[in-house]
Amino acid sequence: MKKSTLSLFVATLILVASTAFAAKMATVDIPEKPEMYATAPAALTPQQCAQCHTGAFNGLKTAGGKHRFDCQACHTVIHAYNPKKANYDEVMPKCASCHTDIHGPANKDCASCHNNPHTPRKVAMTQRLATTCATCHAEEKAELVKFPSKHTNVSCDRCHTSHGFKPSCFMCHKPHFKDQPIEACAKCHSVHKPKQVTYQGTDWNQTCASCHSKVAAKLFNSKARHSKVACASCHKAKHGYIPQCTECHKAPHPASILTRFPNCLGCHLDVHDLPSMK
Ligand code: HEC
Ligand code: HEC
Ligand code: HEC
Ligand code: HEC
Ligand code: HEC
Ligand code: HEC
Ligand code: HEC
Ligand code: HEC
Ligand code: HEC
Ligand code: HEC
Ligand code: HEC
Ligand code: HEC
Repeated sequence: MKKSTLSLFVATLILVASTAFAAKMATVDIPEKPEMYATAPAALTPQQCAQCHTGAFNGLKTAGGKHRFDCQACHTVIHAYNPKKANYDEVMPKCASCHTDIHGPANKDCASCHNNPHTPRKVAMTQRLATTCATCHAEEKAELVKFPSKHTNVSCDRCHTSHGFKPSCFMCHKPHFKDQPIEACAKCHSVHKPKQVTYQGTDWNQTCASCHSKVAAKLFNSKARHSKVACASCHKAKHGYIPQCTECHKAPHPASILTRFPNCLGCHLDVHDLPSMK
């Protein structure tokens, strides 16, 4: 009996209190759901960030290279930019937190070349880049300087119109003769020292003849057996090389004659058109 008396008393108290203060805590009824707050949220995945930031995501997707990892490995702070605090630079990731001055002291200003960290290998051909090639490619610059040619005065970016692009010789030159294939050029010319012409093999008559047409016509029309010898068999390996006759003709005459007349061409006259032996 005592128990029911007590609950009646409590119920009365509540009724009195509620009518006394006459207030609900809210004007609407929304049941609380504490289970929604029981576990801490998982970090947003790149896909989830991308639902709003398509640009960053697509950049990484198509040209992110080795930067294709979790956004928040870089963006340890997000959505903290506040124009009143002018803290944009402060909240953005810093290259230096993961990289050293990889290209040396002349190139500490990473973002002036890598202007989009979401496409890190895309470096635009700006004036900044074009004037500093040699800080990273000292070898090519040194070669152009050491072997003066007309290419020495062609600026790097006139050939390399975008970073890493390698131009075809045909962009600026004609071949030595019609139908000479582009693959041939590099077999004789090294582009940063184009006058140092070297080559292997002997199959170059047509190229030689394109400039030395008189010598070629003489040789090819000669009745002597040298007409079957390729230009590059005698003028081997390096442009302008003059061979010794004895490289091929070890001991053509008795030593006594050769010591008296050491100049072979004194008798044989013209190597490209030897007088008839018959
Ligand atoms: C390798 C580090 C790195 C990764 C990974 C990275 N970011 Fe960034 N992000 C940066 C840096 C550095 C900046 C500041 C660029 C600047 O100063 O203009 C930036 C800028 C931004 C900006 C503001 C400028 C803008 O482009 O609108 C957004 C938004 C952004 N990142 C989103 C993302 C999202 C989303 C991802 C993942 C899908 C991501 N980032 C991955 C380094 C990174
Ligand atoms: C629901 C949409 C949404 C999602 C999801 C979202 N952002 Fe943002 N983010 C914004 C908006 C809006 C801004 C402010 C406008 C702007 O700069 O584009 C912003 C700004 C930023 C900025 C630049 C300014 C600052 O305060 O940092 C970065 C960096 C950024 N977000 C990174 C991220 C990353 C990383 C993720 C995933 C972890 C992410 N955001 C997820 C909407 C979103
Ligand atoms: C959170 C760490 C982090 C930050 C911040 C960061 N990077 Fe990287 N970056 C990396 C890692 C890791 C690699 C891959 C290195 C490797 O595989 O040797 C990388 C690779 C690169 C590459 C080569 C990309 C490729 O695909 O080969 C470039 C370029 C680069 N980072 C530039 C930058 C620049 C510029 C910044 C500042 C805007 C920056 N990174 C900020 C971690 C970072
Ligand atoms: C003068 C322009 C310039 C500056 C400044 C610059 N970089 Fe680079 N960086 C480049 C170019 C160009 C590449 C080659 C990109 C390619 O693969 O085509 C490169 C490549 C890289 C690579 C890849 C290296 C490799 O061997 O493959 C990393 C990492 C990198 N830069 C980080 C940085 C960091 C960090 C800074 C600032 C300390 C920085 N860069 C400053 C132009 C620059
Ligand atoms: C800040 C350093 C840096 C600067 C400045 C720079 N480069 Fe590079 N460059 C690199 C790196 C790093 C690579 C990538 C090397 C690799 O792929 O192994 C590269 C690659 C190249 C390649 C392709 C190499 C190959 O073997 O395919 C060419 C061509 C090139 N650079 C030309 C230039 C020219 C021309 C300039 C000036 C307009 C320039 N670079 C400025 C760092 C730089
Ligand atoms: C007349 C055009 C031309 C000029 C000028 C030129 N290059 Fe090149 N460069 C080329 C060509 C063509 C190649 C490709 C050579 C090959 O594949 O054998 C090349 C290749 C390269 C490479 C790749 C490595 C190699 O040797 O194959 C680098 C790095 C390079 N050049 C840097 C430079 C720099 C730095 C300058 C200026 C100091 C420069 N180049 C001037 C045409 C040029
Ligand atoms: C962007 C244009 C350009 C490209 C690409 C180019 N060159 Fe040249 N080259 C020149 C110019 C300009 C000259 C000077 C022409 C003149 O003054 O008559 C020159 C001159 C030369 C010369 C004569 C050098 C001298 O000092 O007399 C040779 C040899 C040569 N180029 C070979 C090549 C070869 C081989 C290639 C391809 C690997 C090539 N060039 C690619 C622009 C280019
Ligand atoms: C068999 C070797 C050889 C081959 C292959 C070759 N060249 Fe040459 N090239 C030379 C020689 C030798 C010179 C003259 C160099 C000198 O005057 O010192 C020369 C000169 C040049 C010149 C300077 C301008 C001129 O006509 O005097 C250009 C340009 C040139 N070559 C472009 C090319 C191109 C483009 C190719 C590929 C289609 C090519 N060469 C293939 C050997 C060769
Ligand atoms: C683009 C034109 C050109 C081509 C192609 C060319 N030459 Fe020449 N050659 C010259 C010029 C110009 C000279 C004279 C200037 C010099 O010594 O560089 C010369 C000189 C020579 C000399 C004489 C060197 C001396 O000391 O008197 C020989 C030998 C020679 N060339 C052989 C060849 C052979 C062999 C080939 C083919 C593999 C060839 N040339 C292709 C233009 C060319
Ligand atoms: C059997 C060897 C041999 C052959 C084949 C040969 N040469 Fe020569 N060439 C020489 C020798 C040796 C000299 C030096 C002659 C002298 O000292 O008077 C020379 C000189 C030259 C010279 C410079 C002097 C001049 O006469 O203008 C040129 C250019 C030349 N050769 C081009 C060619 C060309 C082009 C071919 C192919 C069509 C060719 N040679 C084939 C051996 C040869
Ligand atoms: C690259 C090798 C080579 C060089 C260098 C060379 N020759 Fe020859 N010579 C030959 C060959 C191959 C023959 C043809 C031999 C045969 O058919 O048995 C020949 C043939 C000859 C003959 C015979 C001609 C004939 O028609 O019967 C004479 C003479 C001769 N050489 C002189 C010279 C002289 C002089 C020199 C130097 C100025 C010289 N050679 C340089 C390769 C060479
Ligand atoms: C004093 C003049 C003279 C001198 C110097 C000379 N030769 Fe001869 N050589 C001849 C005569 C003449 C013949 C033709 C002999 C014959 O028909 O039997 C000949 C023939 C040759 C033959 C062709 C042999 C054959 O079997 O077909 C060769 C190869 C030759 N000489 C190379 C040379 C060389 C190489 C030198 C320099 C080292 C040289 N000669 C110096 C006069 C000379």
